[in-house]
Amino acid sequence: MKATPSTVLSPRETAFLVRQRVARLATADASGVPHNVPVCFAHDGRDLYVALDEKPKDVPATRLKRVRNVLENPNVTLVADRYSEDWSLLAFLMVRGRAEILEPETDEHRAAVRLLRGKYHQYENMRIEENPVIAVRPERAASWGALDASPGGGRPLLDGVRGRRSVREYLPLEVPESVVDEVLEAARWAPSPHGRQPWRFAVVTRRETKKHLADAMGEEWRRNLKMDGKDAEVVEKRLKGSRRRLLDAPVLVLLCLFLENLDDYPDETRQANETMMAVQSLGAAAQNALLAAYDLGLDAGWMCAPLFCPEKVVEALGLDTSLVPHALLTLGYAAGDPPKRRSRRPLDELVVYRER
Ligand SMILES: Cc1cc2nc3c(=O)[nH]c(=O)nc-3n(C[C@H](O)[C@H](O)[C@H](O)COP(=O)(O)O)c2cc1C
Repeated sequence: MKATPSTVLSPRETAFLVRQRVARLATADASGVPHNVPVCFAHDGRDLYVALDEKPKDVPATRLKRVRNVLENPNVTLVADRYSEDWSLLAFLMVRGRAEILEPETDEHRAAVRLLRGKYHQYENMRIEENPVIAVRPERAASWGALDASPGGGRPLLDGVRGRRSVREYLPLEVPESVVDEVLEAARWAPSPHGRQPWRFAVVTRRETKKHLADAMGEEWRRNLKMDGKDAEVVEKRLKGSRRRLLDAPVLVLLCLFLENLDDYPDETRQANETMMAVQSLGAAAQNALLAAYDLGLDAGWMCAPLFCPEKVVEALGLDTSLVPHALLTLGYAAGDPPKRRSRRPLDELVVYRER
């Protein structure tokens, strides 16, 4: 049975709605106390359906607050929205309507279950047909923004590229080893000269090791800053800040250059370029790691300190002397949004030659 198309939602709104995987359903009890939960839903072009699935919940489906609210007060609002770091893609749709609880074994319930299973493969193995379904009959709709922007909505990779930022303060929360492995896995897939992957990673999580590393790098930095003529107070303040960053970051990933598998050339120029390519690809591995960290809900920062004292770092961590430490990535959960202002030069300034 095909539903008569909605006269409440415009075609653009319907098209937007059916592309969304999640919405927020707001209900209220008889005294108007609001309740708002994310829901998976299906839309048949006229009404909306929300399953009461059998995911572990403390109460049987019919005792759920949203169901009790609908029975007391059928007025509901459902909001579906798209967020993107590119704000020209923002959009939302709000549907106001009346909700009903559909009991199993009715035609509409069966049709709703079919619809929901068609949209979410996860429902195929869940006995949602045994639970009531919430039907929302739209009465009014309001929408805003780029409803018909790119199919699928959002551009997760580009969102990640724009959303990632350098974090220098972390919460004292452990990062699961499996998550660190995913970050390293992303680094592993970076492009590299001849596909030789001329980098190796060292992962440091123990406080004692971090202290040892901070001491080794700090000593060298102190020497360099003094050589630059910086006054003692400034030197100590900077060193303290850098030491705190190293100790407070839950995970440190040291990126080392490993040149032994690269090509050998008889002339210095080509040999230097071969090394340069390896360094370029270390940068690509670092960026892959930073983006993966961001994508996994972590944050990361980049510290160049090891570049200035590679032998000290090798010694402090007892690494093979064929490795050349280049960068340290700090990983963890950001203590807050970084205070530093992030801005970028406009593209017009960066593109110095272009043919149209
Ligand atoms: C090669 C390289 C070395 C960096 N070294 C440091 C560093 O030693 N300390 C630091 O706080 N940030 C360091 N950064 C991070 C930059 O300061 C940061 O990427 C830049 O300010 C832009 O900010 P964003 O990453 O938040 O977009 C480094 C970045 C790169 C690419």
